[in-house]
Amino acid sequence: MTDPLPDLEGRAEIERLVNAFYERVRVDDRLGFIFDEVAAIDWSSHLPKMYAFWETVLFRSGGYTGNPLAAHAKLVPLTAMGRPQFDRWLELFRSTVDDLFAGEHAEHIKNCAADMANVIHSKINHIPDPRADPGNLTPEQKARYAAYRAVAEPSS
Ligand code: HEM
Repeated sequence: MTDPLPDLEGRAEIERLVNAFYERVRVDDRLGFIFDEVAAIDWSSHLPKMYAFWETVLFRSGGYTGNPLAAHAKLVPLTAMGRPQFDRWLELFRSTVDDLFAGEHAEHIKNCAADMANVIHSKINHIPDPRADPGNLTPEQKARYAAYRAVAEPSS
């Protein structure tokens, strides 16, 4: 029998998740070059930023300050940042979570990622998305938004 997967309990698990996720992103045909060639990011600063981001979203303790909308908006004139890219990002994120973790926080982080992908995609491309329209959010989504809105949308 295989051991049950652990849940995300804090910073250590978040670091494991983020590292594993970006290992997959970097070798992905649709996404890898956006990080390594288009944005040419410095992974040694991007990864800690993403640890802080997810720790802040999940546990309010990561100390993330930044502007995810602006970071992605600046990519729009440079490369395709449409639904296929966000769907692939989400597919990799969800499968990485599911391969490593299971439980309430694992479900929560996947739901947060999906909600934020919808918002970021809609706002940076100026495409109305009913899934990102505050009027259409389920009570469960509204509760999630209350937790991460200040993190994901600092300027609005
Ligand atoms: C098509 C999908 C996506 C691509 C190609 C992408 C790509 C990138 C790139 C290249 C950067 C670095 C920008 C820079 O430092 O110059 C970045 C930053 C970031 N991304 Fe994404 N991203 C995607 C989706 C998402 C989603 C769905 C989320 C949230 C759930 C997210 C969260 C973040 C955060 C928090 C940062 C750091 C922003 C900052 O404070 O500088 N990304 N992304």
